Amino acid sequence: MKVDVLLGLQWGDEGKGKVVDVLTPHYDIVARFQGGPNAGHTLEFDGKKYVLRSIPSGIFQGGKTNIIGNGVVLDPALFKAESEALSASGHDLTKCLLISKKAHLILPTHRILDAAYESAKGSSKIGTTGKGIGPTYTDKVGRNGLRVGDIFHDFDSKYKAAISRHETILKQMNYQYDLEPVEKEWFEGVEYLKKFQLTDTDLLINEYLNENKTILAEGAQGTMLDVDFGSYPFVTSSNTICAGACTGLGVAPQKIGEVYGIFKAYCTRVGSGPFPTELFDETGDRMRKNGVEFGSVTGRPRRCGWIDLVALRYAIMIDGVTQLIMMKSDVMDDFDTIKACVAYDMDGTETENFPFEITETVKPVYAEFAGWKTDMTKMQSEDEFPEEFNAYLSFLEETLGVTIKMVSLGPDRAQTIVRYTED
Ligand code: GDP
Ligand code: IMO
Ligand code: MG
Repeated sequence: MKVDVLLGLQWGDEGKGKVVDVLTPHYDIVARFQGGPNAGHTLEFDGKKYVLRSIPSGIFQGGKTNIIGNGVVLDPALFKAESEALSASGHDLTKCLLISKKAHLILPTHRILDAAYESAKGSSKIGTTGKGIGPTYTDKVGRNGLRVGDIFHDFDSKYKAAISRHETILKQMNYQYDLEPVEKEWFEGVEYLKKFQLTDTDLLINEYLNENKTILAEGAQGTMLDVDFGSYPFVTSSNTICAGACTGLGVAPQKIGEVYGIFKAYCTRVGSGPFPTELFDETGDRMRKNGVEFGSVTGRPRRCGWIDLVALRYAIMIDGVTQLIMMKSDVMDDFDTIKACVAYDMDGTETENFPFEITETVKPVYAEFAGWKTDMTKMQSEDEFPEEFNAYLSFLEETLGVTIKMVSLGPDRAQTIVRYTED
């Protein structure tokens, strides 16, 4: 068997959580491979809504194994809060969730360092989620990190050494902070972690594959936030791309199967950084209002704009996407006109290739489509799709070179249509 990968193709928040939940019945195992509590994956079903941050989105379909892989960074305090809230609503995870001993721990000082670095950057700040993601991955690559498996081996001295290193940096930066209250919560989180199976998930995943079990790898963030291929430096600190599933789970490249690429029918971004198709007008406000585009975790308003096919085609190439899934087209159900960016005008020269420099001077070149002006949220099959909507889908498939296999028409699990298209 192979590992199928599901990932975001834009700047995150494409609707990954919803689709992982929809696909979970087809899999035995769901595994997160990178990122951490910077993610906010929303799922809605039976009139209930859940937002998951570090926990995989396969936990609600019953009887599935869920894995937090080695590529994830885990904050024990936030993990405890998230898991306890789920437990209170009847979802006990201690039996169905496995955590890699190789996953790195977000220390309390990583969160403080995140805030300190952002504050030092002033107006050029990244606009991080403040969860300590950058500093934790920095320590991982710098070979100074603490891993989940370390909590059983001389943990106190390793912890103290790391904290002392961080405190030296914070002192040099002259940054004021209070470690004590967060430290207590953090250690309670570490104790709580011990209730779970902390194990060699890399070995286990490969055993599962040999036993012909089916595995879905769940990405966090999006391809345009990838540390190598995204809009650097306004990115997150991990590899969000398909290859990240190999390094983040311990799976060889030839063992990757389908790659599901998820995109919104328009585009959003939170935090700073280039966004060529961003709208600052009434249309952008309407997208934000119709799509409830406010951060699932932080509540920050998301920046909104038209779909960017230059960036999307690039993401599809980097990820090797085999199936596309389009989300949230219902947000534009009442739009007269829909636009899609097909090229960038860079100082008078047009390009369809995603460039190294995306500056203020990049101007999107748009194709325009008639809106479908139909409430699609209750549709049950693609046979009901309006003609204008089908024209938009065909154009996207032609431009992107990959079939759109699924269309999501609302936040609920049930508002999902699988298309019966030929490859
Ligand atoms: P993720 O981080 O990729 O899992 O996405 P988020 O959960 O951060 O953001 C997606 C938001 O859109 C959530 O509030 C979802 O409930 C909602 N959503 C998902 N799919 C659809 C859809 O097709 N239509 C609408 N209107 N909302 C959707
Ligand atoms: P999901 O998985 C959208 C953004 C932050 C910031 C940048 C770096 O829900 O799609 P970080 O805290 O990672 O160092 O922040 O990345 N960002 C996200 N944007 N969705 C996410 O996750 C994000 N995770 C991080 O806003 O611009
Ligand atoms: Mg999100």
